[in-house]
Amino acid sequence: MPVSPNTSIMPQTAKVDSSGHLNIGGCDTVDLAKRFGTPLWIMDEETILQAGRALKEGLSVYPNARGLYAGKAFLCMAMCHLVRRMGMGLDVVSEGEMYTAEKAGFPKDLIYVHGNNKSEQEIRKAIRMDGPKIVVDSVSELEMCAKVAAELNARAKVLIRVIPDVEPDTHHHIVTGHATSKFGVPLDKLDAVLELAKSKSKQIELLGLHAHIGSQSKEVEPFLETVDILADLYKNAKDKHGLEFPLLDVGGGLGITYIEADKPAPIYEWARQVAEQTLCAFKARQLTLPELLVEPGRSVIGPAGTTIYTVGHTKKLPDGTDYIAVDGGMADNPRPITYGAKYTPAVANRMNSGSSKTPAAIVGRYCESGDIIVEEAYLTAQTGDLIAVFATGAYNYSMASNYNRTGRPACVLVSQGQAEIIIERENNDDLISKDRVPDRLKD
Ligand SMILES: Cc1ncc(COP(=O)(O)O)c(C=O)c1O
Repeated sequence: MPVSPNTSIMPQTAKVDSSGHLNIGGCDTVDLAKRFGTPLWIMDEETILQAGRALKEGLSVYPNARGLYAGKAFLCMAMCHLVRRMGMGLDVVSEGEMYTAEKAGFPKDLIYVHGNNKSEQEIRKAIRMDGPKIVVDSVSELEMCAKVAAELNARAKVLIRVIPDVEPDTHHHIVTGHATSKFGVPLDKLDAVLELAKSKSKQIELLGLHAHIGSQSKEVEPFLETVDILADLYKNAKDKHGLEFPLLDVGGGLGITYIEADKPAPIYEWARQVAEQTLCAFKARQLTLPELLVEPGRSVIGPAGTTIYTVGHTKKLPDGTDYIAVDGGMADNPRPITYGAKYTPAVANRMNSGSSKTPAAIVGRYCESGDIIVEEAYLTAQTGDLIAVFATGAYNYSMASNYNRTGRPACVLVSQGQAEIIIERENNDDLISKDRVPDRLKD
């Protein structure tokens, strides 16, 4: 069975060297911090590739399956190249992500355009590119696709996102497949949407259905349930509407291990079970097998990322509360303040220093009391120490902000002792580059 990086807290190449330093991808993280500064995102190429391999092997029980990497988890041009190397397609949710893929030379027919409120401009771009599939979220979006396609004298390649009414085991902010979700078409409206698509077949090429139930789900069961629901919908589409779809997209959402208590299904297992279920469900209904698409983001990139911070000031309050303040926080990792996400930290320059008996809070540098990266860290750290926070590859850079007018950190890709910048650190000039001062305000 292939290695499943989504079940480990640290990246696959993490080691402690003879000086007690954390090494990732054959690079000493203490050196990386000196060379590139902190906060720093370190992405371990081997961990990404292993996740890609595990996914592919799991899917191989199905004759025609492909992983689409969900770019919302982390996207930049180098990542597009890695995704391509892994043989995956790409799920994008904005013109910016589409543009990134285009500029990186990503194959356009492997791009899937998602989102619950696509603009006309985004739809126009996707149709013009003549390759990307648009995953339509509502009736009005379908109408917009038809209108734009007619203007361009083209046909929009479309999948319909449905709400399967399945809830995975995750935080309520990141469930998306429940009956009242803002994403997708409710099941009882699907017949009407299919008829509408059929009536516009000159402009709409209807290729399949899509569902995505949420994110950071550790169990496989809700995905299997979703597959069965989708198979029923394919049967209904065939029997009632005479439609046979070549594609089936069952979404992403597999969880990863942030802390010891997280026990997600291994990515290989998840992919294999989803593929087997699809095979069985479609055969049982005597349906032709569509190309099976899955869209993992977090489980591919999350475990590969480690953030390195430098400790600034430390503080002990009279009640014993210990604070270790680092040079980043909610602007580079908004997940803890947004939905109470938990992380595992370590002291990167003293990995062998052991744990402390009492916890300290690792807090960020931003002006919010909730800017706490790890509430209870069983470690001791002094000014100048480096704190590593693991499993920060997904939804950190992509959700980062310039809060308090701080630049976003740099991101380096490490592999076999080599470290290369894939996203430059933003500097103060970047921060003011879009500012304009009206003449009347100038002295
Ligand atoms: C449509 C869609 N596909 C795939 C994903 C990827 O999810 P994850 O990163 O949890 O695998 C998301 C994220 O929420 C999504 O909305």
